[in-house]
Order: sequence, then structure tokens, then C-alpha cells
Amino acid sequence: MKDIMKVYISRNVPQEGLNYLTEHGLTYTVNMENKKLTQEEVIIECQSADLLLNVGGVPLDQHFFDNCAHLKGIALASVGYDHVDMDAASKAGIPVSNTPDVLSGATADVAFLLMLAVSRKAFYRANEIREGKWNDFEFTKDLGIELNGKTLGIYGLGRIGLELARKAQAAYGMKVIYHNRHPNETAKRVLNAEYVNFDELLTRSDVLSVHANLSPETQYRFNKETFARMKNSAILINTGRGKIVHEQDLYTALVNGDIWGAGLDVTDPEPMKADSPLLTLPSVCVLPHIGSATIETRTNMIKMAANNLIAASKSNHMPQIVNVEVYKA
Ligand code: DGY
Repeated sequence: MKDIMKVYISRNVPQEGLNYLTEHGLTYTVNMENKKLTQEEVIIECQSADLLLNVGGVPLDQHFFDNCAHLKGIALASVGYDHVDMDAASKAGIPVSNTPDVLSGATADVAFLLMLAVSRKAFYRANEIREGKWNDFEFTKDLGIELNGKTLGIYGLGRIGLELARKAQAAYGMKVIYHNRHPNETAKRVLNAEYVNFDELLTRSDVLSVHANLSPETQYRFNKETFARMKNSAILINTGRGKIVHEQDLYTALVNGDIWGAGLDVTDPEPMKADSPLLTLPSVCVLPHIGSATIETRTNMIKMAANNLIAASKSNHMPQIVNVEVYKA
């Protein structure tokens, strides 16, 4: 009789995903404690598992792969994989998958939500009610700015950026410009989006939305020099990774009026500290990394991750493989 493979799941997930694993002959153990496990705790749990479903971004570095080289596959419940040392995974011969596409719409919604909320100082104004500061109808107090016909700049236009651009064009007729390593043909064809260099992106965007992956090239790419190049009326949105934006410089740029506002779904560090000075500013809106946090998307992410683990359990190629070189070895 063939051994039944076991999946370790580092955080609780929608039941449908778990059912999907058992329907395909896998067993599982789930971390049901409501806390992020340390890497050491995950290493211990993985000693009795064949496959890992890494939920919640537990970092997987060389030390992890030295201790878990027996794993047959790892599925990440995220599209981002900056928390995984892919070279170490490949050297250990372990395929790693992610969850592209399924979260694009939900994450673009959060970027759109932040863009609109910042433009009307919505979180700050809502908080004033809780603080008992809604005293009067003041005609000129804390006015917002409108998005109609403005220019949306996208840094790192992929699937999520395309979704945001589509929504912003439909809602506000926004002109779309973007900067990537290479032009994106779909963006040109579907949205008539204009490919620009980085400096043009900074100087022309009314709203600049960050969708790039975190890498040595993108780390702190938005800093005091770049904010100084942006319009004083510009809004910066980040739903990519917190470390792409230098938060201290962002605060200074906002206070000095180098840019007008900022909306962040990702921060550096995460969780953001409750006493972050950014949270005191009227034209700043911060969310706790909820880009993909809808019932539909989280369920689809786990089903996609489970599907990849099922493939790995049968020694088949994972459909959403990241370190494809592992199959060439
Ligand atoms: C992703 O999928 O990368 C989201 O940011 C959640 O981590």
C-alpha cells in the first residue's frame, strides 16, 4: 500500500481547501493557534510532513532548507515570494509554487479603495467622528482632491496593476502611464497605457501606485529623492511590499508638502506600530495588508495552493511553479 502523504499548514485556512486535499488522498495538520509561527516551529512541524502549505509568510531561508530537505513540495499562499530563498529551495530540489492571478482583482480593489479614500482624507475624517470632533459643517476644512481625468502612474505593471488601471479608467477616465523593466503589450492594447521612464513616472503621475515585487532593485526605491521629483499634489499608493517605500522619508515628504497623500496596504515593518506618525496625518490611509482578504479570493488561493501540493505529491510538475529550474536539474 502506498504511504499517504501529509501536508503541514502553517495557519488556519478556508475549509474548502482542506477538503480538497483530503478528496485527493492527502492528510494534513493545521496550526490552529491564532499566531504566526516562528521558522523553528515550522521546521519542527515539517519533520513529520511531506509537503508544506506556507500561509502567512513564514520566512524560508537556507537554514530552513538545510533542515527540511526531505519536503516534496512547498505551496505558498501568496503571489509574493520575497520571503523564500528560491536558490536554496532549488538546490534542495524542492519545487515551490505561488498563487498568481486569483488575487489580482481583490488586490486592485484595495489599491482603488486607498486611492479614493486618500483623495477624500476618508479615514482621518471618519476617525474625527469617533473622537467627538465632528462639530460643524465646515466649508473649507480638510478638502479632498478629485480623480476625474487625472494621470494614474503604475510602478510594476503586471496583473494587479492592469486590473487597477482598468478600474481607474472606467471610473474616472484616468490616463494610464507605467514603468516596468519591459513594456507590457496588453497594457498598450487594452488600455492605451503609455510606457515611460522612471523619472517621467514620478513627475507626471497624479496617483502613483506601486505593484512591483520586492527585490534589491526595488527596495526603498521610493525615498526622499524620488518624493522630491513627484508633484506636490500627488498621491502614493502601495499594495506591493512595505520595504519598497522608505516610510520615514514618506512622512517627511508629506509633512513638507512634497507630495499630498499616501495609501498603504503594506508597511515596514508589519504590523505597523500603532504610534507610527504616518497615522496622524489627514491624507494618509493605512490598511493591515488585506489586499487578498476576501472570502472568494482566500478560498481560491488555498484551492490553487492545494492543487499544486497534489501535483507535487504525485511527482507531477506544480502548475504554478516559481523555481522552474528545479525540474530541469
Ligand atoms: C501576496 O499574495 O503576496 C499578498 O501580499 C499576501 O501576502
